[in-house]
Amino acid sequence: MSLRQYIYISTALELQEDDIRSILESCMRHNKEKGVTGLLLYNGRNFLQLLEGEEADLKWVLDRIKLDARHSGISTLEDEPCEQRACPDWLMRHIRLLDDVEDRRKRLDEQLPEVLNPRLRRIILNFASLN
Ligand SMILES: Cc1cc2nc3c(=O)[nH]c(=O)nc-3n(C[C@H](O)[C@H](O)[C@H](O)COP(=O)(O)O)c2cc1C
Repeated sequence: MSLRQYIYISTALELQEDDIRSILESCMRHNKEKGVTGLLLYNGRNFLQLLEGEEADLKWVLDRIKLDARHSGISTLEDEPCEQRACPDWLMRHIRLLDDVEDRRKRLDEQLPEVLNPRLRRIILNFASLN
């Protein structure tokens, strides 16, 4: 067993209204089958995604994500072994960001799991502070 946590950011390309919904539908099927969990943030231009799971399963999902034409410029921010999942119950939680940057950071901080490693929490909150 080798559990990992992976975070990347990317730039969305020509995203339609329905795209987030369709991405989440794929997540429900594949992440459930592969035991991959995590969260997805979208700020209108960029994605940040935290994925966690067994190494081989994570790679399977990531290989698909990297080929997805709905985004580009995937940049890895974190790729580390971990002891426990931060979001065991989230097949893929889409967290909506509030308009106001101050409120957004505070609200997101409250929504992130308590057991989330503080370094990862900072990375995610910093992404949410970008405008
Ligand atoms: C930002 C982003 C995040 C995604 N995250 C996942 C994911 O966690 N799991 C997944 O199966 N597909 C994810 N996808 C979708 C995959 O890239 C791919 O479209 C999907 O796995 C195709 O499977 P399907 O044709 O069976 O729906 C993501 C796509 C984007 C653009």
